[in-house]
Amino acid sequence: MTEEKRAGAPAGRSAPARSAGRALTPVTLGEVHAPKVERLRTGIGEFDRVLGGGVVPGSLVLIGGAPGIGKSTLTTAALANLAAAGRKVLYISGEESAAQVKLRAERLGPHALGVPIVADTDLDAVLATLEAERPDVCVVDSVQVLYDPALTGAPGSVSQVREVAGRLMRLAKERGIATLLVGHVTKEGSLAGPRVLEHLVDCVLSFEGERERTYRTLRALKNRFGSTNEVGVFEMHEEGLVEVEDASARFVTEATRAPGSVVLCAMEGSRPLLVEVQALVAPSEIVPPRRVANGVDRNRLALVLAVLARHGGFSLGSADVFVSVAGGVRVDEPGADLAIALALASASKGISIDVDKPLAAFGELGLTGELRHVAHADRRVAEARKFGLERIVHPGQRAGTLRQALAVLNGSTEKGAAAGGGTASAQAA
Ligand code: TYD
Ligand code: MG
Repeated sequence: MTEEKRAGAPAGRSAPARSAGRALTPVTLGEVHAPKVERLRTGIGEFDRVLGGGVVPGSLVLIGGAPGIGKSTLTTAALANLAAAGRKVLYISGEESAAQVKLRAERLGPHALGVPIVADTDLDAVLATLEAERPDVCVVDSVQVLYDPALTGAPGSVSQVREVAGRLMRLAKERGIATLLVGHVTKEGSLAGPRVLEHLVDCVLSFEGERERTYRTLRALKNRFGSTNEVGVFEMHEEGLVEVEDASARFVTEATRAPGSVVLCAMEGSRPLLVEVQALVAPSEIVPPRRVANGVDRNRLALVLAVLARHGGFSLGSADVFVSVAGGVRVDEPGADLAIALALASASKGISIDVDKPLAAFGELGLTGELRHVAHADRRVAEARKFGLERIVHPGQRAGTLRQALAVLNGSTEKGAAAGGGTASAQAA
């Protein structure tokens, strides 16, 4: 609980403001004049795609993510490209000194050094600077460290963050300054801050990944100017964030052929993405046994385990179960169920599903053990074929239930045995 002082009502807005308002004239939506805005491309393809084709002038974009994930790196690189393309940009750093930002920019290449920067945390100074400079695009890194001296709360408190974002928004709309707000989110996803801003800003992007891993995903949680299904995949390198344009290729080559590995044909927004789902089933000494899910929803895993036990003949009640999506990617769709189930079944039997090429799968599991269709089946199949995965298990005429799908395990060879497993009886493309 933090105490908030009520801001004094601005003069002239109290009692007399109750006089009759001016009536407005409604117009039909068809008559509304909506000029076509040209988006500002950041030159980072994955970033632009998640934004819906680039930054909309005058819009407010919140980029949330855990500390160290690469928010400053991404926004600096975006400004560098915009500056190189002749746009006026400004980097407002409240967290790091200009010298620290310079050190980062040096790693990003020579054009990043062309980005103008101010380092300050006083909101009034920042607003005055924006008013004077009028950049096309600015980055505020981070919204939690700016503070309004007129308010009592500490920087980062709800009242401060709300005020900072509110005033930045008014200026952004008035002057057409596209503003990228950087916000920290803790592992638990909260901290006073980004969450209270979500309704205020035009776009909320979430930058995710594990700091120890190199893959990062950027997804839109809210986007007034585009789809919220888009996901950008990046990799953190020595010289900055690198876009992973062909993420599927990457994940498929890395996929192992060991028991417990299945390639999932997922859809990430408008794009199919192949990721490797890995499962490990080990005897447990604790009650209740462990259920660890990385990159997939825990509740989904619980459901898959229950359906496997009831309708697939795999009771894993006395085993620790670990499921993880390789590469640190997170998959949030019911279409992952079948791949998780197959990976678990294969792990628990110690059978590799295929030896030459990984097996691909997608489909939702119903509670009665049936396989349910998921959207974009044709595109998922096409993506798997593109990478040479011929065996694809998915809902269809020949695989209507989980039990039928699990038959692929029987056509496979025991672990360590020679290659040559038969064709999947459940294949139904
Ligand atoms: P940073 O952008 O500072 O993260 P955030 O602003 O989200 O807190 O960068 C995070 C990490 O990335 C940092 O630990 C160093 C690493 N990094 C690289 O590996 N390569 C690079 O080129 C840069 C700039 C950073
Ligand atoms: Mg930072």
